[in-house]
Amino acid sequence: MGSISDEDIQRVREASDLVAVIGERVPVKQKGRDFWCCCPLHQEKTPSFKIDPSVQLWHCFGCNEGGDVFAFVMKTEDLSFPEAVRKLAERAHIDIQETGGRPSAPASKKARIKDICAATAEFYHTQLMRSPDAGAAKAREYLAGRGLGGKVPKEWNLGFAPGRGALTRHLKARGFRDDELVEANVASRSREGRLRDRFYDRVMFPINDAQGECIAFGGRVIGQGEPKYLNSQETPVFHKSQVLYGLDHAKAAMASTGTAIVVEGYTDVIALHEAGIGNAVATLGTALTLRHIRLLSRHAQHRIVYLFDGDEAGQRAADRALGFIDDSMTPEAGRSKVELCAVTLPDNLDPAEFVAARGAAALSELIKRAQPLLKYGIDRRLARYDLSTAEGRTRALADALSVLAPIKESLLAKDYAVQIAGRCRAREEDVLEALAALAPPARRDGEAPAGEASVPGASPLPEPAPARGRLTQAERSRLRFEREFLSVLAQHPLLALTHADALAQVQWRRAAHGAIAQSLLDTLAGDPHATAGTLITNATASVPGAAGTLTAAAVPEGADAGEVAAYLAEELSLGDAEEAIASLKALLVDPTQFSPEDYDSLFQSVVGMQGDLNQRRLAHKPLSPA
Ligand code: UTP
Ligand code: MN
Repeated sequence: MGSISDEDIQRVREASDLVAVIGERVPVKQKGRDFWCCCPLHQEKTPSFKIDPSVQLWHCFGCNEGGDVFAFVMKTEDLSFPEAVRKLAERAHIDIQETGGRPSAPASKKARIKDICAATAEFYHTQLMRSPDAGAAKAREYLAGRGLGGKVPKEWNLGFAPGRGALTRHLKARGFRDDELVEANVASRSREGRLRDRFYDRVMFPINDAQGECIAFGGRVIGQGEPKYLNSQETPVFHKSQVLYGLDHAKAAMASTGTAIVVEGYTDVIALHEAGIGNAVATLGTALTLRHIRLLSRHAQHRIVYLFDGDEAGQRAADRALGFIDDSMTPEAGRSKVELCAVTLPDNLDPAEFVAARGAAALSELIKRAQPLLKYGIDRRLARYDLSTAEGRTRALADALSVLAPIKESLLAKDYAVQIAGRCRAREEDVLEALAALAPPARRDGEAPAGEASVPGASPLPEPAPARGRLTQAERSRLRFEREFLSVLAQHPLLALTHADALAQVQWRRAAHGAIAQSLLDTLAGDPHATAGTLITNATASVPGAAGTLTAAAVPEGADAGEVAAYLAEELSLGDAEEAIASLKALLVDPTQFSPEDYDSLFQSVVGMQGDLNQRRLAHKPLSPA
């Protein structure tokens, strides 16, 4: 099977009028601009299936599906995309050129690597569960001895790597080539060029992406030995700094609790899940990165709690995490709604040991009491010194204050500086002056500033809609505006380009909306000529159900899509500005938090912002019905 060129796909699309294609299958009836029919995807007697010829998209209000002509053929005939294209090409008598032979596109290469990882995980798992060999028996014993027996190996697809070429032989018999095995990093070449298994005599932890597809492995030595863990190296599908172990298991609990818990080890994740704490994930032997935080904030709306091991390594990780303090954490930024918190486990324990020793309830309590990262960082610094001596206090002051350097202009920094002054018995004015004199730290290299690139392959759950009654009227309208804005842009890709800034900047009130916006941006970044169908298909790949959302709303007949999009963009931007002002006003409620000058200047700026907002509200006229 070859691949079909974009030009051919475009020709087939143009030759396949949606109303005609659907009309050949079921009777359709025109009502105004649109056509309606009974949905071929579910049983019904009254039509709830709408075809909008102006954008060549369909939507069923009954089953909440939708898309373009290719999606229609794929859904109704259960075909893949290329199969649907071929089918419609035949219908339109178009000859398509298939670039033949071996698939070489990056997408198919990645799929091939994932196939290898899946086959490898399965092989290792079978070895662990069934192999009569002594090595496998030792692995089973080892896991059971650590409390990872029973259902755990099946739930986490744990495995055993026998080594000695067993995996390589197995995969080659299944048709995978040497170079592919090396590329997937389940095998490596010896100096003489011979292929050998990468993992040997280890307990294997398959590492999945957020969708649950295996992309890499961590292998633990059985008992003592070096290295304790051997992990897959980077491959085209595995980028350590973007993957979190257990996210596929944890995302539902993250969505429902609004909280993500980050630990350090594979075994910690499993132990926490087994203890009923299902929203835990681990970094893969790396520090938490901004990418991880962005990935997590798509799943957990409120809090990310970093649980640091009580040992020395955990404490070093804690110090590194303070590097995440940046101005997005200040209320002035008004955007980062996810609070980053941290807590250190007591008595040198790691999370798995802690739950084993003290129970899940104690751990939940600890998590609940986790401090915002800023406060945690300051307390850690102060704790290093003997505050009963003048010298200790002076050094503690300088050290703790430096935590605030990245946000030194903010009111929050001043607030904390005053607290530090109190703890170190220094004069507030002096400390505030020292704060102002701090040099802002250089940007960490290798890290995109927050809000820039997205994490490929991340899929937020479409949140379960909260019970209707719990939303206020304003919240409901806001969500409707968001859905309509996304629909209009997905249906009119040129408008999506025009409003790319808004797509990136809106404070989406649903993680699924944010993920759809990100997917639209990603698709257009890859191909500025992407069609509505492609935008919708790609969005649905990362947010299940997106097709329904994006095809449900339509620009009213006679209205101009551009005007509707501009109206909605302004509406959302006004809503965000209102939120930002509201959170600043909330700060003003407690004047004791501020020096009188700060209070005044904050007050003045809120008044100014409110004035601007009022002006914009006045100018924001409802669209006149056509
Ligand atoms: P730990 O040493 O805390 O591992 O390293 P752990 O999960 O508690 O392991 P057990 O309980 O002794 O089996 C935390 C994480 O750091 C990475 C792994 O991801 C591990 O889960 N690590 C650790 C490595 O990648 N290589 C190593 O040699 C050690
Ligand atoms: Mn540990």
